[in-house]
Amino acid sequence: MEVTLNTRQDIPLRVAQPGEPDIAVLLVGRGSLYTRQPAEGLSNLARRLRSAYPEWLVEIALLEQGGPSLPQALDSCQRAGAGTIVVLPVFLPLEAATRNWLRFLARRWLERLPAPARILLAGPFDHPGSLADAAAESVSLALQSGAAVSAASGRAVAPDPDWSVIPPHAYHVLFCQGPRCTAAGAAEVGAYLRKRLKDAGLDHGPGHVLAARTGCLYPCNLGPVMVVYPEGTWYCGLDEDAVSRIVDRHFLNGETVSANAFRPSPYRQSFPNSQSTPPKSLGDE
Ligand code: FES
Repeated sequence: MEVTLNTRQDIPLRVAQPGEPDIAVLLVGRGSLYTRQPAEGLSNLARRLRSAYPEWLVEIALLEQGGPSLPQALDSCQRAGAGTIVVLPVFLPLEAATRNWLRFLARRWLERLPAPARILLAGPFDHPGSLADAAAESVSLALQSGAAVSAASGRAVAPDPDWSVIPPHAYHVLFCQGPRCTAAGAAEVGAYLRKRLKDAGLDHGPGHVLAARTGCLYPCNLGPVMVVYPEGTWYCGLDEDAVSRIVDRHFLNGETVSANAFRPSPYRQSFPNSQSTPPKSLGDE
């Protein structure tokens, strides 16, 4: 296990008080564009860990394609008063880039805390022995079940005919739920977008908004991000207020919402209140 990340070395770490968990374990997985199963699988694992180690607070987080995000889950641990938070990625392989991203997120979270906290970033989930034992147990269960896949029995599930349809629509939205947008709140903002579209009757029928969740769309620093076609308008820095304006003005009235609209450019772009780069949103032209 790698010890990391008390960025405030000058201030003593907070110690858990009676009744508060000393250790919080954060199981981090990857979500899915299509199903809640990754979050449910993580929740099952969390339940088993809690029953084996009742003194631990065990929470889950998704790196991308869903929530809660890592910063949100760290917030929960901190609100519960955990003295030490162990971040445990539970996917394989754990690439160096992903590990660096987890470290970066944890550092950024620590920097905005008013008081220091202690985070440990656990190593890859493939320590000799433990994972081999788990793999051997799974193999053994599969062998015992005898439930072999049989080519002779034909398709287990007939393909859904709907998956051959391109539904007529007025707007096509690509809503990013890649890792950086997820850390910036994309899961919650995306859920809010889907709710607003449903409430406005824009989730079905020929004039509807066909909203698709995607992986990284590239301008991560401007996230959460979505692109609206046929115009090709990039909406960046999304929150619930911005989404409401876009639903009311763009999808219902065909107007671009300038305050959040950006267009492709070879130059770095930023938000109007950012210190670093002059704003280059459509609304400034
Ligand atoms: S993660 Fe959304 S643009 Fe990269």
